[in-house]
Amino acid sequence: MRIGILNSGGDCPGLNAVIHGVVGAASQLGWEVIGFRDGFEGLLPPGDYMVLKPRDTIGILKLGGTILGTTNKGHFVAKIGKGDIAEVPADVVAKAKQTMDHLEIRALIVVGGDGSLTTGLQLFREGWPIIGVPKTIDNDLSATAFTFGFDSAVSTVVDALDRLHTTGESHKRVMVLEVMGRHAGWIALWGGIAGGANVVLLPEIPFSFEKVAEFINRRDAQGHHSTLVVVAEGASMPEGEIVMIDANCPGEVRLGGIGERVASRLEKLTGKDARACVLGHLQRGGSPTALDRILGMRFGVKAVKLAEEGAFGRMVSYQSYHVGSVEIEEAVHQLRLVDPESELVMAAKAVGICLGD
Ligand code: F6P
Repeated sequence: MRIGILNSGGDCPGLNAVIHGVVGAASQLGWEVIGFRDGFEGLLPPGDYMVLKPRDTIGILKLGGTILGTTNKGHFVAKIGKGDIAEVPADVVAKAKQTMDHLEIRALIVVGGDGSLTTGLQLFREGWPIIGVPKTIDNDLSATAFTFGFDSAVSTVVDALDRLHTTGESHKRVMVLEVMGRHAGWIALWGGIAGGANVVLLPEIPFSFEKVAEFINRRDAQGHHSTLVVVAEGASMPEGEIVMIDANCPGEVRLGGIGERVASRLEKLTGKDARACVLGHLQRGGSPTALDRILGMRFGVKAVKLAEEGAFGRMVSYQSYHVGSVEIEEAVHQLRLVDPESELVMAAKAVGICLGD
């Protein structure tokens, strides 16, 4: 039997660990694995793919990125704007199907986030043997408590905060770090807590500049002359604006720029020097953490198991320390956001972190 694997959307630490898991488990069953290049684009005739044998995956566990390449643009984009669904055109699906049929692919493992799994769901509904594997540093997929890549991204945020901390202290400045996460605040919240941020601003919790400025002034009066602020790229300005680099690009909008806005407003309100730093794609790069390597590998092995069971239309999922599976539909119908009343948010507040509300 021959199965296919592709990863689609933004790259993410741990993708190669999934490939390692899939190839290892499939070879035990005597199956051949075809890796499609650059996401779904690799399915378009004549097909852009490589045969993946266990020897091809030696040493990839520790590598960031993906040996298959990926894209969050192209012919198969199913999410646009702020999560609106756009069907992949029928002629594109038909062309890709020719490659599936020609190569006799009996299961296609789609490793992706919300957008790519929405494409996977459409293909499954059209009769394709799709198995989903959740991937995103944003950790915003419903039906899985964790996605691989998140832990690595959070580690990068923590490392950046450790560095900004010393500059902030030396110059008695407000240091603002803008982090990724799209419309969810998981990276900001986890990274902020672990990195010792004093203020964390999330898409899920409306904030006021006056409250943050009061908090900074109070700290100043108490002798803490520097303040570390983490702001999620998807947080709304108090006036309601979501700051974007590009609102009209193909696929989902490109967020970014709120860090600079936050720094300049806080500088005006507090009279303190403020500087913004955008962490950007550093959060997606580099070696995956041990946790992401293991999670990715387990997800890959589970995806092969699902293929063996013929459990198509299902997505690997991690809940309560167990790798199981759910319907893909359950995972993509809405984003998993930070609950403002959750124990984690309350814990952040309990240790004195200001969320701007
Ligand atoms: O979804 C992952 C993510 O890194 C988001 O956190 C971020 O908004 C987006 O992708 C950036 O995408 P691109 O690589 O296209 O700039």
